[in-house]
Amino acid sequence: MSSLKIVLLGFGTVGEGVYQTIQTHQNRLQSLLGKKVEIVGVLVNDINKKRKIDQHVVITDDMDDLLEIPDVDVVIEAIVGVEPGYSYVKKSLDKGFHVITANKELLANKGKELKKQAVQNHVRLEYEAAVAGGIPIISTLRHLLRVNRITKIEAILNGTSNYILTDITENQTPFKDALYDAQQKGYAEADPSNDIDGWDAFYKLMILSDLLFGTQPSWDSIVHRGIRNVRDVDILAAHSIGCKIKHVASLVSEDGDVKLAVEPVVLPSSHALYSVDGVDNAVMVTGDIVGQLQLQGPGAGALPTASAIIEDLVNIYQIKENVYEESAVSFTSLSESALEDWL
Ligand code: NAP
Ligand code: HSE
Repeated sequence: MSSLKIVLLGFGTVGEGVYQTIQTHQNRLQSLLGKKVEIVGVLVNDINKKRKIDQHVVITDDMDDLLEIPDVDVVIEAIVGVEPGYSYVKKSLDKGFHVITANKELLANKGKELKKQAVQNHVRLEYEAAVAGGIPIISTLRHLLRVNRITKIEAILNGTSNYILTDITENQTPFKDALYDAQQKGYAEADPSNDIDGWDAFYKLMILSDLLFGTQPSWDSIVHRGIRNVRDVDILAAHSIGCKIKHVASLVSEDGDVKLAVEPVVLPSSHALYSVDGVDNAVMVTGDIVGQLQLQGPGAGALPTASAIIEDLVNIYQIKENVYEESAVSFTSLSESALEDWL
């Protein structure tokens, strides 16, 4: 049987989760894709670290070694920060490889350009894992956008912040201990200030803005605060009056004007995000036809993230072209009157 050859960039929480899932779900993948799925190369920082990787796999800290492997089909990128991921993804797209990335910082900064490059090279750039962990929010929005105009998103998009807030609320755990626990569980970013200063949720909201509107507002115009300065006493005080502090990312589109914010908010028990606890994320979406719907599930961690990445892999081979995203962008960029005519 021929095989589908994959190169994996990064072997941390996400990379190792993907590697293991491909081993444990090999039969299922073979029946879906008609081919054995094989990781042929892994890029890491430190080649001397001990890792559970088969001997035949090339392990290197030099991307060029991986680009020389013959007949690669897909590159899965799960390293940290804009660079070197940007250069590696560009090179991979240029070589004609499909790319799947979990890297929100890279997509928020360079997603538009990389998507364009993928289209030019007739390959796919997929990124389900980059927003809300295991929740299939990107594919859901692509489906909805075929006929709906999305008017509002209200979401918990950072698992680490939600984990910390929940642990303080329920167990009075000190902030730094709750953060340490989130790091040990593989939820936090390599630099956790990305989580607790709100950058991670901010990047995810920018990715959603790109998907919904084909553009992002100026970053300076967006309210952007993390949970670092939320005091334990405030979290407990909110709880004592039947409320909870949650880190909420929101996007409201009204009369051609789009307002975005990422900030800690006091939510009453009647709010749909009130009961979203622990590492869970949740996304409430309002569309002009569908009304309001909500998706909830694990927002971080090895296996939920691997699930989203493997979904992308299967979609690349089962959904021939990325028709959803293309139609979404052209649909949302229609003028109001054209939109009314179309509907
Ligand atoms: P991680 O545990 O810190 O692992 C990062 C991996 O990338 C490590 O294997 C590291 O090598 C390698 N790496 C880092 N910089 C590199 C470089 N310059 N060159 C080569 N290799 C490099 O991070 P992670 O949690 O797996 O996250 C990876 C990406 O997925 C990030 O962009 C993150 O935002 C995103 N993500 C994470 C989650 C999650 O739940 N953790 C969920 C969704 C998306 P060494 O092993 O040698 O150190
Ligand atoms: N650090 C991120 C979070 C990982 O806690 O949500 C998932 O994107």
